[in-house]
Amino acid sequence: MSLRLGDIAPDFTAETTQGTINFHEWLGNSWGLLFSHPADFTPVCTTELGKTALLRGEFERRNVKVIAVSVDDLDSHNKWVPDIQEVNNVEVNFPIIADGDRNVATLYDMIHPNASEKATVRSVFVIGPDKKIKLTLTYPASTGRNFQEILRVIDSLQLTANYQVATPADWKDGDDTIVVPAVSTEDAIAKFPKGVNVVKPYLRYTPQPNK
Ligand code: BEZ
Repeated sequence: MSLRLGDIAPDFTAETTQGTINFHEWLGNSWGLLFSHPADFTPVCTTELGKTALLRGEFERRNVKVIAVSVDDLDSHNKWVPDIQEVNNVEVNFPIIADGDRNVATLYDMIHPNASEKATVRSVFVIGPDKKIKLTLTYPASTGRNFQEILRVIDSLQLTANYQVATPADWKDGDDTIVVPAVSTEDAIAKFPKGVNVVKPYLRYTPQPNK
């Protein structure tokens, strides 16, 4: 059964390139990004893990801990990491789970047999500090992920968690946000001193509160 938004992210203990990790303990009070890739020593994955390492500051600024997974073993990960570093001119600073027994891949339903019997697809899970799943994405093996989009969703999720605002279609950092339906217009006017633009009783814009 696949995981759904709001489910508790399954806990696990796994060997990684940074030692043994108990997932929930390792997350602590941080947000988490768990993402799978099909295999080590593959071209798209080499660019993705490099891009993730290059975005270290962006993830840290958002209090997001990043962890990657594939069904390759630790020896393979450790041999591949120097390639990622060389190609992308960056240090790989996050752990990569060695999931040879497919424990994590099974818990998170990352193997889609009609795509591949053996390899994980490109799954993305964003996990909140409450350990609940906030975002799931599934990409095919041949499509590298857009990590700017993943950061954009994390920004939106954190705005909702911290300020009770949602984000409209194609929102980007700095654009106006939308007051969530649970907040009345009267309360919104008191809560958002930068102003509330009531387009419809149910569509109320306010400038991004943390800008
Ligand atoms: C890759 O990981 O680079 C890849 C995997 C399957 C098809 C094409 C590329």
